[in-house]
Amino acid sequence: MKALVTGGAGFIGSHLVDKLLADGFHVTVIDNLSEGRIDNLKHHQGNSNLTYIRGDIRDAATISDAVKGNDVVFHLAAHANIRTSLVNHRADLEHNLVGTLNILEAMLHHGVRDLVFASTSALYGEASIEPTPESYAPVQTSLYGASKLACEAYAEAYTQLGDVRFWAYRFSNVVGERCRRGVIWDFVTKLRDNPKELEILGDGNQSKEYIYVADCIEGILTGYRNAADRVNIFNLAVEENRTPNDVADIIIREMGLTDVKRRYTGGRRGWIGDNPIVHLDISKLKSLGWKPKFSADEAIKRTAVWAIKEQTSS
Ligand SMILES: NC(=O)c1ccc[n+]([C@@H]2O[C@H](COP(=O)([O-])OP(=O)(O)OC[C@H]3O[C@@H](n4cnc5c(N)ncnc54)[C@H](O)[C@@H]3O)[C@@H](O)[C@H]2O)c1
Repeated sequence: MKALVTGGAGFIGSHLVDKLLADGFHVTVIDNLSEGRIDNLKHHQGNSNLTYIRGDIRDAATISDAVKGNDVVFHLAAHANIRTSLVNHRADLEHNLVGTLNILEAMLHHGVRDLVFASTSALYGEASIEPTPESYAPVQTSLYGASKLACEAYAEAYTQLGDVRFWAYRFSNVVGERCRRGVIWDFVTKLRDNPKELEILGDGNQSKEYIYVADCIEGILTGYRNAADRVNIFNLAVEENRTPNDVADIIIREMGLTDVKRRYTGGRRGWIGDNPIVHLDISKLKSLGWKPKFSADEAIKRTAVWAIKEQTSS
């Protein structure tokens, strides 16, 4: 099988590339390296089953060439930062929606059937039902979430235009090695710079699910291999929630620190568009035989241990 992975030099994308190569796929990665790092793929140097294209999914001609000849497109490239879209309101539209449209057009043109898409729990906004099922009708709270929901809607419509099949995974917080963004990386940076005080955005009680990246990849592939509707949409998370205060406890312990003063910026949210509670119903994907192997605490701890090592050796 031949797979194109957009955003394959990023955090989750590079782990997916590892798994696809191990499973015998021929993999092409396209990434503009805006956030990704070629270092994330360096252990595959010399592997003739991996082709890397430095390119941008906003460029229709580039993505058309990359899509051609593949059996499946795993589409992870995105502007994935709710906070930067607060200052650049076009970023989600251009990278996420226009980028996805370019991929769908190329798939139709070249007869590539399968699109597997990295969506997000952010599209549920502040859901009034917990755990939130895939069928929940959301109200948008961020441009990022809105753009991902629009991508899903476009892909769904494209399944009517031709022979396209679509899988979307609404991830909660994915963590693990190579994750250089988000609360774990930020807390390690702050505590490395000042081991006596930790600034926590919001009130420290935002309640979210932290899924380990290997479980996320396994979930994506389980759904892709076992769900065969034209449109297949899944939540992908763990079952237990943790707060920034819980994350801080684990990191402070792993760094061997004591007497750390916590300073809260206040309010229920860390920033505009931060949904204070994310709790997804994952029964649909579990019914296909998948379940997370790592608890939220194990996922946070593994990521923290890696981030501490990474930041102290750099
Ligand atoms: N990490 C999470 O917790 C999480 C949660 C929900 C959804 N997601 C989604 O999963 C996917 C992967 O996220 P990640 O955490 O690995 O982020 P990431 O930033 O590490 O990966 C995204 C990759 O896409 C590349 N990219 C961005 N814009 C591009 C463009 N226009 N053309 C080509 N490449 C481009 C970046 O260089 C990067 O390598 C994203 O679609 C994101 O929205 C992630």
